[in-house]
Amino acid sequence: MITGSTRLFGIVADPIAQVRTPEVLNAYFDKQGLDAVLVPLHIGAAQLAVAFDVFRALKNLGGFIVTVPHKTAAVDLCDEVSAAAREIGAVNTVRREPDGRLVGDMFDGRGFVAGLKAEGLDPAGRRALLVGAGGAAAAIAFALAEVGVGRLTIANRTRARAEELASRVSRFYPAIQVEAGDADPTSHDLIVNSTSLGMKTGDAMPFDTELLQPEQIVAEIIMKPEMTAMLRQATLRGCVVQAGRHMLDHQARLMGEFMTRVS
Ligand code: ATR
Repeated sequence: MITGSTRLFGIVADPIAQVRTPEVLNAYFDKQGLDAVLVPLHIGAAQLAVAFDVFRALKNLGGFIVTVPHKTAAVDLCDEVSAAAREIGAVNTVRREPDGRLVGDMFDGRGFVAGLKAEGLDPAGRRALLVGAGGAAAAIAFALAEVGVGRLTIANRTRARAEELASRVSRFYPAIQVEAGDADPTSHDLIVNSTSLGMKTGDAMPFDTELLQPEQIVAEIIMKPEMTAMLRQATLRGCVVQAGRHMLDHQARLMGEFMTRVS
């Protein structure tokens, strides 16, 4: 039950009706036995800065999730941002400190990696191929590097974006071998599709699935459909597959922990 002492959390988005975060995070709060509630907050881009000021003033606000289209703008609106989120150029979770300061971090890619680890598929030391170089790819690339992936190849339709992302990751994690390359899964242990290919029926494959070998780990972040044509092909070829929904629970836990952490 919501009472006067319930801590308030939010998700900021535009549009808002499609967000699933309230269901997922309120279930997390229940599981943790926290007196907290997360509500949808529909805010357009033009009012985002005003909203952040209100959030600073709102003493019973614990934090909020930031999603489309505000993740990039949120970086400069927070009072403090983790070095990784600043480098990725996006914030998806903000904690409000007791003094009102807003502290942002990024968990999109970390949720994905935590989902892999929970299945015993730790990317540490493995040779990974990341297909795609957009916002989702950037979060995953940094999260893979953060846990010590052995070698990372980034392939993208627009090669320049892959090169740019590869150089950003290797600047931030100089010890990790990162390069732009072809979408050829041969001699990789882990292959990740972070493009939007697979969301629509009839989409092309993000890479040549005929080249997949048994035991390779093939993962992606597409939620709908739950099993893409690419993952079905990978399954037929004996690969270990990880569908997009796996990262959801892990991401919710990481975001919940970050927002409710008392510093
Ligand atoms: P998101 O933030 O969800 O990652 P994005 O930044 O628009 O979205 O990135 C979409 C990714 O899917 C990009 O890597 C994009 O490739 P380009 O950089 O060449 O645009 C990739 N993508 C989308 N449609 C594609 C298609 N038809 N073929 C190949 N790659 C595609």
